[in-house]
Amino acid sequence: MRRSVSTRLLWASASAGVLALVFSLTGCSGGQQSTLDAVGPGARRTEGLWWLFFGISMGIFVEVMALLGWALWRRRRSRVRIKDGDAVGFISALGVVVPLLILILVYGVGLRDLNALAAPDDEPTVNVDVVGHRWWWEIHYPDRPQAVTANEIHIPVGESVRIRLTTADVQHSFWVPQLMPKTDLIAGKVNSTWLRADRPGRYRGQCAEYCGQQHAFMALLVIAESRPQFDSWLAGLVPPTDEPLTDAEQRGRAVFARSACATCHTVRGTSATATVGPDLTNVGGRWSLGAGAAPNDPGHLGGWIVNSQTIKPGNAMPPQPVAPGDLPDLIAYLRSLG
Ligand code: CUA
Repeated sequence: MRRSVSTRLLWASASAGVLALVFSLTGCSGGQQSTLDAVGPGARRTEGLWWLFFGISMGIFVEVMALLGWALWRRRRSRVRIKDGDAVGFISALGVVVPLLILILVYGVGLRDLNALAAPDDEPTVNVDVVGHRWWWEIHYPDRPQAVTANEIHIPVGESVRIRLTTADVQHSFWVPQLMPKTDLIAGKVNSTWLRADRPGRYRGQCAEYCGQQHAFMALLVIAESRPQFDSWLAGLVPPTDEPLTDAEQRGRAVFARSACATCHTVRGTSATATVGPDLTNVGGRWSLGAGAAPNDPGHLGGWIVNSQTIKPGNAMPPQPVAPGDLPDLIAYLRSLG
């Protein structure tokens, strides 16, 4: 009776091990925001470490499963016990020597990669200052005064970008899995990191340090494009912005200036210069509203203005009592920016 219970336990352990392997492998497909689809040298180090750890874990898994299988097989055929002397050698080898060798190897490789990640192998050509807010990213290009945006970073492909990280409130963590490992934004400190994209694309990033209710919607997008595309985007960030062309856009601009919008936001080239919320100078061209909370289209923009709390509860923007007749003009104006 006792014997059959322990045999069943062995079988249960073996099955659980195989299931764990299947579940872990199903999470490994590459794609958006995947460390296993590295596009830059920083992320490739992380990917390499991941595969090293995975390989070691697989080795140990196979070894343990083989020993389990062996134990099951033996149990059925003989009742011969392992001698004490054999057990000591076996436990010393697999319980002390092998783990020690593995830890030394992993530690050495980790130190090597940490050192390699400290700085890029070429001089960065672009500087970006990132300020973390609950729950959005303020982006500055310090080499070009007034080049400010939010929740997206454009970079020239194939060039290293130096990133300075600070926070306006609590701890956040800057992470673009396909381009670089995580770096924390720590209150009262300036941290720095770097990234480089080897091919053009849009790479999603995410705050990776829990920072409150909307931590999940503290996303950002890194857009790697050709040098000329990047230069022209950067030039477009700096005023004077184009004058609104249509009547609706001009009416919308007046609504913006006289309503609560201008008490929290900046639109460069206008009288709105507040810095409570994100700079809206190029808001019409951005990939999302609310740092990934909603698509940037006219419908969602209207919903966001009237009551963003229904889209991203807890964010700093209160509901806005915009007159229904003014809302389409305001949307038209904001869509024309950027
Ligand atoms: Cu910012 Cu989580």
